Amino acid sequence: MNFRGPFRIRADRDRPFPEIEHPEDAIVKVIRSCICGSDLHLYHGLVPDTRVGSTFGHEFIGEIVDVGSSVEKVKVGDRVMVPFNIACGKCAFCKQELYGQCHEANPQSTAAGGIFGYSHTTGGYNGGQAEYVRVPYADVGPTVIPDWMDPDDAVLLTDVVPTGYQAAEMGGIQEGDTVVVFGAGPIGIMAAKCAWLFGAGRVIVIDQLDYRLEFVKEFAQCEVYNFKHLEDPVVFIKKITDSLGADVCIDAVGAEAAGDTMNTMLGRKLLMQGGSTTALHWAINSVKKGGIVSIVGVYGPIDALVPIGNVVNKGITIRASQASVKRLLPKMIEHVKNGIIDPKAMITHRIPLEEVGEGYHIFSKKLDNCIKTVLIPPSA
Ligand SMILES: NC(=O)c1ccc[n+]([C@@H]2O[C@H](COP(=O)([O-])OP(=O)(O)OC[C@H]3O[C@@H](n4cnc5c(N)ncnc54)[C@H](O)[C@@H]3O)[C@@H](O)[C@H]2O)c1
Ligand SMILES: [Zn+2]
Ligand SMILES: [Zn+2]
Repeated sequence: MNFRGPFRIRADRDRPFPEIEHPEDAIVKVIRSCICGSDLHLYHGLVPDTRVGSTFGHEFIGEIVDVGSSVEKVKVGDRVMVPFNIACGKCAFCKQELYGQCHEANPQSTAAGGIFGYSHTTGGYNGGQAEYVRVPYADVGPTVIPDWMDPDDAVLLTDVVPTGYQAAEMGGIQEGDTVVVFGAGPIGIMAAKCAWLFGAGRVIVIDQLDYRLEFVKEFAQCEVYNFKHLEDPVVFIKKITDSLGADVCIDAVGAEAAGDTMNTMLGRKLLMQGGSTTALHWAINSVKKGGIVSIVGVYGPIDALVPIGNVVNKGITIRASQASVKRLLPKMIEHVKNGIIDPKAMITHRIPLEEVGEGYHIFSKKLDNCIKTVLIPPSA
C-alpha cells in the first residue's frame, strides 16, 4: 500500500521490491497482514512525520524468501510471525527485554523504539501491508510459526494478543480485583480476556459501540457498558464498584478517544495535544486510591492534558508501554495451543490487499460491525 496523505491510501502495483540492505536482514513474502487501531492514527494524520509514499503495516506473517549473509536462526522457506517492534536484541534496552524500546532500531530518537510501517518517528521502516517487506535483525524478531498453528492466529500474535496480555500484566492484577477496560477494540477485547488469567474477580469493559460490547461480553465473559448511555462514566463506575473505584483501569483506546468535546477538539481536531485523553481521564478518575492504571492506548509524542493532581493525591501507579512482543511470544503461543486464547475469533473482515483503501475506510468508520481486518496479498 501507498500512503498518499490523511484518509488517502491506495494499492500500488509498481512498488520496488525491497532488498537486503544489511547482513542481518531478511526479505519476507507476506501471507497475511492486519489493519490495527494504531494504523488509524497514521491514516487520520495524527502521527508526526508520516511520509507520503510510505507503506504501513506492523502486524504481518510471511515466508522468508531471502536472507542476509549473517542470518543464522531463520532460513529461506521458513514461515514466520514478525513482532511489530523492530529490535536489535543487543542494546541495553533489548537486554532488559524492553523490545518495544530498542535504541539501535531507531537511534535518531530517545523517545520511541522502531516499529514497522509507523512513520519516521519510529524509524521510517516500511511495513507489511505489502507483498514483500524487508525485516531487519532477522535472527531476533521473526519466530517460526508452529505447524499446528492457524495463520489467522499467528498474525494476531504479532501485536494484538501480546499487547492485550501486557495491558493486563502491567495492571498488576491481584486475586479478586475489579478491572475496568476502556475500549472494546481488538486490544481491549484481548486485555479483558487476559485479565482473568491474572486472577481478576470482575472484568468490566466500556465502549460506545454495542456490536463490539456484545462480542467482548461473550468472548471474555465480562460486564459491558456503553458510555453513550451514561451521564458520567466515572461516577457510574464508582457506583457499580464499592463507591471507591476499580482496583485496576486499562486504557485500550488511546489518542482517538471520543466522549468529551474539549478533549476531542484539542487532541483530534486542533492537534494541540498528543491526542484526546478522554479514556485516560476516565481511567485515572475511576481507579481507586492506590490503584493501577495501565496504558497501552497510543498517544502522540507531544504533551497531553491529564489530571496529574488526582494521580498524586490518589497515589496511583501508572504503567505504560508499547508491548514487548518478543518477550511474550512463547507464552502466547502456549496459550493458543492450549485453547486458552482464540485470537482469530476477532477477525471479521478479510480484504484483498488490492482493496486496502476500502479496508481502511471500513475499519476507520467502524462499518459493517468491523472488529479486525486481515489483508490478503494476491500472491498469498
Ligand atoms: N501499546 C501497544 O503496544 C499497542 C499495540 C497495538 C495497539 N495499540 C493501541 O491500542 C489502542 C486500541 O487499538 P485497537 O486496535 O483496539 O483500536 P480500535 O480503533 O479498533 O478500538 C478502539 C475502541 O475504543 C473505543 N472508544 C473510543 N473512545 C472511547 C472512550 N472514551 N472510552 C472507551 N472506549 C472508547 C472505540 O469505540 C473503539 O471501539 C490504539 O490506540 C492503538 O494504537 C497499542
Ligand atoms: Zn497493531
Ligand atoms: Zn535493541
